[in-house]
Amino acid sequence: MPGKPRAIGILIKKYLAKYPDMPSLTISKLIKAENPGLIQDVEMIRSNVRIYRGTHGKRAVKMLKDKTFFGTGKIAYIPTEESGDYVPLILSENDDNIGVISDLHIPNHRNQPLILALEKLIDLKINTLLINGDLLDNTPFTRFDKAPPSIGDAKRYFDKAEMFLEGLRGQFPKARIIWLEGNHDHWYTKWLMKKAPEVFGDQYFSLTERMHLSDHGIEFLPQERFLMAGKLAVAHGHHIIRGLFAPVNAARGVFLRTKKSCMIGHVHVTSQHMEKDLMGDLIGTWSTGCLCTLTPDYQPMAGKANHGFAHITTSKGGEFHVRNYHIHKGKIL
Ligand SMILES: [Fe+2]
Ligand SMILES: [Fe+2]
Repeated sequence: MPGKPRAIGILIKKYLAKYPDMPSLTISKLIKAENPGLIQDVEMIRSNVRIYRGTHGKRAVKMLKDKTFFGTGKIAYIPTEESGDYVPLILSENDDNIGVISDLHIPNHRNQPLILALEKLIDLKINTLLINGDLLDNTPFTRFDKAPPSIGDAKRYFDKAEMFLEGLRGQFPKARIIWLEGNHDHWYTKWLMKKAPEVFGDQYFSLTERMHLSDHGIEFLPQERFLMAGKLAVAHGHHIIRGLFAPVNAARGVFLRTKKSCMIGHVHVTSQHMEKDLMGDLIGTWSTGCLCTLTPDYQPMAGKANHGFAHITTSKGGEFHVRNYHIHKGKIL
């Protein structure tokens, strides 16, 4: 019988579980509207709701022990959280021989340095390959000035990049391959959000589906996350160094932001910075060169960009060793 005290208690608890954040008056009106047999008026229901929620002064104190509706047993009401924190992807100890390529900007990649980098990584028998962002140039989706794209450009660029990934899978058949999303890669998702909101959120139209990553056995790490190779953090870098025009020494800029050992791409320049902390432990930061044109439309002359890639080995306990390769005029330096 819904009018009896016990029955009304059960009813209210049911509603509180279903609508934990609905204001007490609103939920009381809803209970009354949906249960016309109730003899209690809205104010009485509301009083009970507040008792159960622990927002009814002293009367509520004993109810706080019921943690079904209350966070700590001491605090009356806390809103439910609707978002989580971003956490890094931590490589396993088996992923200990790692190649890093970045900034291909397909179709503005450059084959000569790309081939040199991949051949070296094959020789090094890597078991893990990181594509550290900006695999795609994604010009058709940029908000910056550009020549108008022709119909079919976007498809051609996606197809080229997918074929490259298929090739990588063939070259490194057993390697774990992870694509860390760069700012250029993300342009497509941003474009989708703004220009095609009707299908945004439908996985079918996502970048990972378009590139058929699961078919190629390639993992994708969204731009909000970074990766840990032992004690070395790896990120594309656009959330660490804003803009492409980095400090004089990009790696030092990374050090000042992260205060941890870290490797980025994004700035298209090979650089390194080493500094000891108070305890005498060495912190190293690196930026890797790109594998795309050195004369992009946004800086056709006097740019600092160079070609490059990196190799990381890690050992038990998280210790790591980095070799940051600079490629110049067809030679690995
Ligand atoms: Fe880039
Ligand atoms: Fe970038």
